[in-house]
Amino acid sequence: MRVVALLNQKGGVGKTTTTVNLGAAFAASGLRTLLIDLDPQSNLSLHFGVEASGEDARPSTTSLFTDAPLSIQQCVTQASDKLWFIPADQQLALAEGQQDAQHILANALQAVREHYDVVLLDCPPGLGVLSVNALTAADEVIVPMQAQYLALRGLEKLLQTVSDITAGLNPKLRCTGVVLCMHESQSSHGRAVVEEIRQHFENARGSDVPWNSCRVLQPPIRRNIKLAEAPSFGQTIFDYDSKCAGADDYRGVANSLLSMWNERAAQAQQSSVSTT
Ligand SMILES: Nc1ncnc2c1ncn2[C@@H]1O[C@H](COP(=O)(O)OP(=O)(O)OP(=O)(O)O)[C@@H](O)[C@H]1O
Ligand SMILES: [Mg+2]
Repeated sequence: MRVVALLNQKGGVGKTTTTVNLGAAFAASGLRTLLIDLDPQSNLSLHFGVEASGEDARPSTTSLFTDAPLSIQQCVTQASDKLWFIPADQQLALAEGQQDAQHILANALQAVREHYDVVLLDCPPGLGVLSVNALTAADEVIVPMQAQYLALRGLEKLLQTVSDITAGLNPKLRCTGVVLCMHESQSSHGRAVVEEIRQHFENARGSDVPWNSCRVLQPPIRRNIKLAEAPSFGQTIFDYDSKCAGADDYRGVANSLLSMWNERAAQAQQSSVSTT
């Protein structure tokens, strides 16, 4: 089971859109995929047509953070073949105030290691207790972002946070990819920023920072109104319009990640053979 946190402390950059549609693309390619909504705004849940309200007794991510927590399997809802999710609700905001709560999600996920191939964590904006839980539970971080100068400065801060987490709570954590969201390829400013991000990662190759193998994932996700419309129908982009640019782009990023993971698994196997 591979646990991936979709993280950016900035709001509105494409975290939830990427979690839902990347997850749906993984499920379509046969991976048992679980999506966890870690944002009290519950936007991921809305993408699946779930409106968490006071009367809705459905278990949610909040149920993992209570004094008498439910298990992951008691909280999941099935969205389609191979795709499951845990919705959030506003009460999840209370978890932000909990002390010593960084390991709750990591511990809960231990029990389902055999049930899923990939788990995607939709983080809230900000770097509070819920995001720290995601970073403590995750094997890797993927950063959805825009190719803009200020976003680049934000990326540096985020990488520093990942580095801080590897120094304590989760030594195995790596930042493995950036997904460019709402991308406008015609903008020369955008092209310059993408080049700077690439250079930043190239400079890190061979060093021991946790982003030394990070890539700008291909293709960039173009701005596509269908991606903004799909959640109002409670649908993923593949159910809403499987032939639109947004569906093509998310399918492409999912394939890039799958090849990257296969490549790395093969390398790891080779190096373990050569050391034995
Ligand atoms: N490629 C795209 N083209 C057009 N609209 C997009 C695209 N990606 C995301 N959006 C829209 O941009 C808005 C922000 O996206 P999203 O909710 O995924 O960001 P977020 O980072 O999860 O935000 P938050 O920090 O509030 O959780 C949403 O209205 C979404 O529908
Ligand atoms: Mg979101």
